[in-house]
Amino acid sequence: MSLNSFISFKHSLYALSGIFILMLYSCLQKNLFPKVESSYFGTTDDGIEIQEYSLKNNHGMVVKVISFGGIITSLEIPDDKGAIGDVVLGFNELKDYLERSPYFGALVGRYGNRIANASFELEGVTYDLEANDGVNHLHGGLKGFDKVVWEIEPKETQQGPSLILSYTSPDMEEGYPGNLSVEVVYLLTDQNELKVSYSATTDKKTVVNLTLHSYFNLSADFSKDILDHRVQILADQFLPVNNTLIPTGDFSSVKGTPFDFLSEKSIGKEIENVDEQLNRGMGYDHCFVLNDSNKGMRLAAKVVHSESGRVMEVFTDQPAIQFYTGNFLDGTLPSKQGGFYQHRTGFCLETQHYPDSPNQKNFPSTILNSGEHYQTQTIYKFSILKE
Ligand code: BGC
Repeated sequence: MSLNSFISFKHSLYALSGIFILMLYSCLQKNLFPKVESSYFGTTDDGIEIQEYSLKNNHGMVVKVISFGGIITSLEIPDDKGAIGDVVLGFNELKDYLERSPYFGALVGRYGNRIANASFELEGVTYDLEANDGVNHLHGGLKGFDKVVWEIEPKETQQGPSLILSYTSPDMEEGYPGNLSVEVVYLLTDQNELKVSYSATTDKKTVVNLTLHSYFNLSADFSKDILDHRVQILADQFLPVNNTLIPTGDFSSVKGTPFDFLSEKSIGKEIENVDEQLNRGMGYDHCFVLNDSNKGMRLAAKVVHSESGRVMEVFTDQPAIQFYTGNFLDGTLPSKQGGFYQHRTGFCLETQHYPDSPNQKNFPSTILNSGEHYQTQTIYKFSILKE
């Protein structure tokens, strides 16, 4: 063997052993650290066992989901020092989710947000819904998608571990027409993204507006409020509300108001301003009309928490986002970390259509016809602040 061919033989050997070690490592990693695990979480009052599934990526991010309500019970991400922290509010016990959750981490449907006077008309028929928020209907009613048990199928994909959640809502459930088959996919990527994809079909004309109701606190310390988080919302307009939080039908420019989040500002900066809209929402609890609604998937909002260095970006194809600053949290709900959730210790950014669209002719339609395919996606992307 010439010296040259010996050298190239040696290099091939190195390359082969490199490939072998990589394959061995990835097999070991798959077997030793499975990316989807499940464990028992609790039992519902009617005896259904609820499992908790964990999705893990290769950067220390872990997302936990239970089959009750499709609820995200925890979302762990590193801070700028590499310390892992849970950044979503929730409970340790199933019974708290069953009895008194303000939609912590839940899938919300059939209609996320409010419908005025708990009724709407479709093709000349009036549909009466449950009035579970004063005279209005909120988040799908008394037993919305946040309180049903979803079927969950874990699936490893090329993009990362995922969960496929399905639920079929029978005709007239909570007053809504049509058998509605819903599928929601939670996918965790190695880019620290949680991709949430919603799809639904119906056998009869109906209305749909699905969303996810996670309360975030990027400090991962739930004894702290969220007023120091800096928020940007790419919306030139928001929908002013009446005193029962139903949109008046007007579109207001955010310019010169506390609702201007076009450039990053802290939540606390203007939340206590004397302002009729802030007064009605007891803080921010408003639908922001996202810019570029014709562009499909785009950045909708960004949240920066300087102290921990955690950053969250929300991308969506939806026309709007409800920004809610945990104004109704009042120190009565038990925290996962001990103690109780105090006022404004979490904020929600719920991507969706406008509230009360079924009754407001000038709002984009939320009607789903039989034969049509409802399909939307929202991505929550986490990163570390580079300053
Ligand atoms: C609504 C709030 C409501 C909260 C329930 C939010 O989506 O905008 O008004 O109180 O959900 O937890």
